[in-house]
Amino acid sequence: MRGVILAGGRGTRLGDTTRVANKHLLPVYDQPMIYRPIATLRSMGCDDILIVSGGECIGGFAELLGAGFTYRVQAEPNGVAGALACAEGYASGLFPVILGDNYFEAPFEMPSRPTLYTSPTDNPSAFGVFDPVENVIVEKPAHPASDLAVAGLYVYDERVFDVIPTLVPSARGELEITDVNNWYLERGLADVVLVDGLWSDMGTPDSLLRAALHARRTA
Ligand code: G1P
Repeated sequence: MRGVILAGGRGTRLGDTTRVANKHLLPVYDQPMIYRPIATLRSMGCDDILIVSGGECIGGFAELLGAGFTYRVQAEPNGVAGALACAEGYASGLFPVILGDNYFEAPFEMPSRPTLYTSPTDNPSAFGVFDPVENVIVEKPAHPASDLAVAGLYVYDERVFDVIPTLVPSARGELEITDVNNWYLERGLADVVLVDGLWSDMGTPDSLLRAALHARRTA
């Protein structure tokens, strides 16, 4: 099965750490960050993985990972959904997509329908937040309707490549994955499932440290 890792973005929340270095190659305790989402996709049965990143980073991934992966360049930094558009023609049927800076403790089983994953967080305003009453996701809400962050793991089908061209850039100038997810939710086409075990993004100094400490405890 084929899976997709979206490993773009400038990593600005990590300050000077990622001004020169590629965020996804930073150490998370004993492994480069990108090994974590690779392990999650492998747990879902992926034996063929596409890595999408900005042109300036692709060389580092190819040098580290070599053969057995496919690499595509996201020509402009136009958001997570913009990066996913680069997977058109690579992924088909039902396939998982993971953000390169997301850390999951538990393995996943591949579901039989498009699926979104949530996890309780003490900082919901930093994420997409699922409102279980309205059945909608709000990106970085000032007043979150719940504490359920939408984690950076998604299972889509090929319809996603028809949805992305219909998206309008958000206030931060990006094609938002939240708009894709709401398209699926509105039509009852995706399940929402709670993540087992720890989930953390690794995009800020604190969340990167949390993931690294967890990795050390469980190494
Ligand atoms: C992205 C998504 C957000 C999600 C988060 C998970 O945010 O837009 O919905 O909760 O990843 O890590 P970003 O890291 O691009 O700000």
